[in-house]
Amino acid sequence: MNLLLPPFLLLLIYIFIRYRKSSDPYTLDHAALNAPLFPQTMWMNMGYWKNTNSFPEACHALLTLLLEKSGLLAGNTEGEVRIIDLGIGCGDQTLAILRALPRARYTGITNNPLQLAFLEERMREIGTGDKGRAQLRLGDGADPDTWRVEDEDGLETWILALDCLYHFRPNREKALRHAAKLGSFAAFDLLLSERAKWWERGVLWAIAVGTGAPYDNFMTAKQYTDMLLAAGYMPSEIEMEDISSDVFGGLTAYIRRRSQEAERWGAGGWKKWKIAGWIFGLWDKWGMVRGCVIIVRGAKR
Ligand SMILES: C[S@@+](CC[C@H](N)C(=O)[O-])C[C@H]1O[C@@H](n2cnc3c(N)ncnc32)[C@H](O)[C@@H]1O
Repeated sequence: MNLLLPPFLLLLIYIFIRYRKSSDPYTLDHAALNAPLFPQTMWMNMGYWKNTNSFPEACHALLTLLLEKSGLLAGNTEGEVRIIDLGIGCGDQTLAILRALPRARYTGITNNPLQLAFLEERMREIGTGDKGRAQLRLGDGADPDTWRVEDEDGLETWILALDCLYHFRPNREKALRHAAKLGSFAAFDLLLSERAKWWERGVLWAIAVGTGAPYDNFMTAKQYTDMLLAAGYMPSEIEMEDISSDVFGGLTAYIRRRSQEAERWGAGGWKKWKIAGWIFGLWDKWGMVRGCVIIVRGAKR
């Protein structure tokens, strides 16, 4: 044992000297000690990139587009309005809606307890007036029985879904049937192009399996319309607008720029986002998935 000790110590000294010689312990990783733990915004949608190169701005712009197209932003509602917001992520949309619509009574629903806890923490910073008209719920957007929304009879009601419905299991049908009973519906959602070739559908199937989104949730505009009709909406109430050209290309370019810049400075952790960027780039080039705004102005039933 004693005989082994000197060579072992020599080996340790050799490793120590080599390490000191060959690598400077200082990189740029002390950014972690200086940066805030979380940024000001925590948006996580595909964004509307028409007038911006910034991710948070594009995400906010996608919400604004929904609010504009529904008429909510222009105040085209009679008096107070009730918003039931599905798939709220970390709640940037919650805070933005409370700011933009001072007369809205708001319920935000997420199935992610971690993101909900994060949002509850952020809600401490808003005024008590806004807090009083906002409720947050842990529930399944696909299952209205878990929404626990208070009865607000007589209030104009909008169900919002910002870039989340394609995740819903087993599908969106139950949520839409309930939405049709409550009022109107505004969403950014993903559709399948009517022109998608069999092999493009195959690639999409693989992406769906890889990302955990049910493949059957990728519906053509016709299938989607039929689903809205079956839910109880009327054909004249349904508007769909394909905004893919202002979504996927901008997001792909942004992820490419950011990951290249991060990697130039030796900052890792971009593998997942690079895969996502590759998928959005494919959708942009091949066009088999369409990013659409869907507005359904439901009559009171
Ligand atoms: C692409 S992110 C969009 C987040 C947010 N809307 C935004 O714009 O930042 C999709 C969100 O949908 C939520 N989601 C997925 N399935 C859901 C479900 N069944 N019920 C409620 N939320 C769901 C996820 O937790 C995730 O936060």
